[in-house]
Amino acid sequence: MKRLLSATIAAVLLISLVACSNEAGDEAVVSGDVTTEGIVTEAPDQEEEEITTSPEESTDDVSGMNASEDEESSDDETSDEAQTVSYEVTEIEAVTMYATDPLNVREGPDALYEALGQLTVGEAVTVTGEVSNGWYRIDYNGTTGYVSGDYLREDEVITEDEYTTLDSDDEYYFQTEEDYLILVNKTNLLPDDYKIETDTVQGSYEMEKTAAYYCKLMIEAAAADGINLKVLSAYRTVAYQQKLFDRNVESRMEDDGMTYEEAYADTAQNIAPAGGSEHNAGLVVDIITENDWDTYTDFDQTEEFAWLQEHAAEYGFILRYPEGKEDITGFVYEPWHYRYVGVKYAADIQASGLCLEEYLGITE
Ligand code: DAL
Ligand code: ZN
Repeated sequence: MKRLLSATIAAVLLISLVACSNEAGDEAVVSGDVTTEGIVTEAPDQEEEEITTSPEESTDDVSGMNASEDEESSDDETSDEAQTVSYEVTEIEAVTMYATDPLNVREGPDALYEALGQLTVGEAVTVTGEVSNGWYRIDYNGTTGYVSGDYLREDEVITEDEYTTLDSDDEYYFQTEEDYLILVNKTNLLPDDYKIETDTVQGSYEMEKTAAYYCKLMIEAAAADGINLKVLSAYRTVAYQQKLFDRNVESRMEDDGMTYEEAYADTAQNIAPAGGSEHNAGLVVDIITENDWDTYTDFDQTEEFAWLQEHAAEYGFILRYPEGKEDITGFVYEPWHYRYVGVKYAADIQASGLCLEEYLGITE
């Protein structure tokens, strides 16, 4: 905000609206007073600047993704007595800002106005004006729109600690974006008090809440490119992981005639021990093609894999068990297993060519 204000260069204009929001009315500036040093004011001309159509109560929501608008306005603020309120819009030098949450763009600087569209987390917008009630005027696909200033910021990096809906009582494991770099493997089991919130990603498959949010964004983005990503596995309980492991040992013995030792060693290259799987952490999604199971083993020959190679990091995911790193990860090459590490680190990890153990310097 300070940087924005220092970039202020031009005049103040007033717009008026007929609002039903008492809170909005309280915050409104109804004269041309200068509130910030350096702002040049014009005498308000309410007749000319007044927006004559009153904004309608918006009935849209944010698709259940986040409650970004809860604080913009609320229904119970509505009063029968409509009042005219004016907002001071300060012209500023255009600056790029980023949405920290899914955020509606509206026709006017209040949640009562119709939504023109919605910004996704991390989406860049050009801010051209500051409204006295804390909203911003933006250039939205060539037209003018307004967004709540609570969910825009100047720094580009998307941080899960801003987005996350975790409770503030430290109950849940993930409190900062660094927490998402947790190393879970055969020798680094999940802590006993590991607790997460989960959300659905596809069908009944779930992941940790923030990971799920980005996974869904990734699946949607792929679909927009004509790529259908099918989830084969995501969050698993520790008990289920144990079952998977044991079942695999048994089938290796029964179907492939292995001894217990052979079957155990083989299974250990493919399935993590209970509590040592990233699936137990809720941070992983196994992705296959829409078509069938056959492409599971040849997944790296598919266009879905190619798409993920190009785009997964944009959504905070890395290919966790790369080819050639088997001795370090302890697992076979798994082109289908995508680990959420967060958008801040994923591209860097991918570009490094290192597996997560190497990247974190924990190879013991
Ligand atoms: N397949 C991977 C290693 C897991 O079980 O977590
Ligand atoms: Zn997996």
